[in-house]
Amino acid sequence: MTITEPANATEDVREIENGHNPERFARGWHCLGLADSFRDGRPHGIDAFGVKLVVWADSTGTLNILDSYCRHMGADLSQGSVKGDEIACPFHDWRWGGKGRCKAVPYAKRVPPLAKTRAWTSMERNGQLFVWNDPEGGPPEDYIPSIEAYGSDEWTEWNWNSVTITGSHCREIVDNVVDMAHFFYVHLNQPLHFRNIFEDQVATQEMSFKPRADMAGMDYVNFGEESVTQSYASYYGPSYMINRLAAQDGLEVVLINCHYPVRPDSFVLLYGVIVKRAPGMTAEEADALAAQFGQGTMDTFEQDVVIWKNKARIDNPLLCEDDGPVYQLRRWYEQFYVDRADIRDDMIRRFEFDVDVTKANEFWDSEVAKNLELAAAKG
Ligand code: FES
Ligand SMILES: [Fe+2]
Repeated sequence: MTITEPANATEDVREIENGHNPERFARGWHCLGLADSFRDGRPHGIDAFGVKLVVWADSTGTLNILDSYCRHMGADLSQGSVKGDEIACPFHDWRWGGKGRCKAVPYAKRVPPLAKTRAWTSMERNGQLFVWNDPEGGPPEDYIPSIEAYGSDEWTEWNWNSVTITGSHCREIVDNVVDMAHFFYVHLNQPLHFRNIFEDQVATQEMSFKPRADMAGMDYVNFGEESVTQSYASYYGPSYMINRLAAQDGLEVVLINCHYPVRPDSFVLLYGVIVKRAPGMTAEEADALAAQFGQGTMDTFEQDVVIWKNKARIDNPLLCEDDGPVYQLRRWYEQFYVDRADIRDDMIRRFEFDVDVTKANEFWDSEVAKNLELAAAKG
């Protein structure tokens, strides 16, 4: 029998602290999708924040959001229909208005006086529908910026997609804000500079990157092999990121990367791109480019999803000097999971950090060169 003992058997081993996914859902604005996609005259059911919501447009086009389970006998309003301005329950036809009041019980002499269900605060911005979640029931805040490019003739319409991620808390995707090294290994892009700024409800990542030359053809955004792309990405609140990308050749893209939680261990990731029409580019060509970016973005998230699906939740990541500020980011993120009264100064005060990418780029350049040589030798 051969027994293999680790050399460090007597040394302290770092253990992973898994912690647990918070039961609470983040306070803040959450984008549910393109506003117009809800204006088809039908009710839409959305599983979010551990409950089911129903979204519909009234006769003026205003979008309303209510709890989807009818307070009469519990049927699902999203299976019902829109009648006039109200949502009609499929079970006994009670009519619910956008503010949550029962407006009519067609077969009854009168509506029970206290018949009211939960209405959710909503907002339309950038062509998207947002819902305000707040476990404390407080008023909505105003931190989602308008994107100037949206709606201008020079830019395309949103190319929009979504995917449900199960088995992970949405903190995993927010961690990406500071995770410099994974861009090389997972997304096949080499960060050339990388900087984070957190302040109040906004967490920013500034990065320039070039595609890995040894992965030609796998460059997800197709910015071109030699080109350096500037990327400015900010989360406004816990779940809505605007990412502005500008390539060396003048190509400009705005990418939305946002999500809403379904349950503590699942979320829906939504993303959309608009592309600026370059001089001489037709609307069709620009739309095709946006569609190509939409596909590329989907591929990028799939690269992350493979990692998320198989990784452990970890509350005590073991970091090296060349990693980004994971703990500071998570401190910033925590502000959305506590009552307003419990927000500490260190969650919201300005924090800036330049990740030193010098050693990383020395190593990556040599690794890429080696891979190219190997590939050339193979012919
Ligand atoms: S359950 Fe909705 S009307 Fe009866
Ligand atoms: Fe990622």
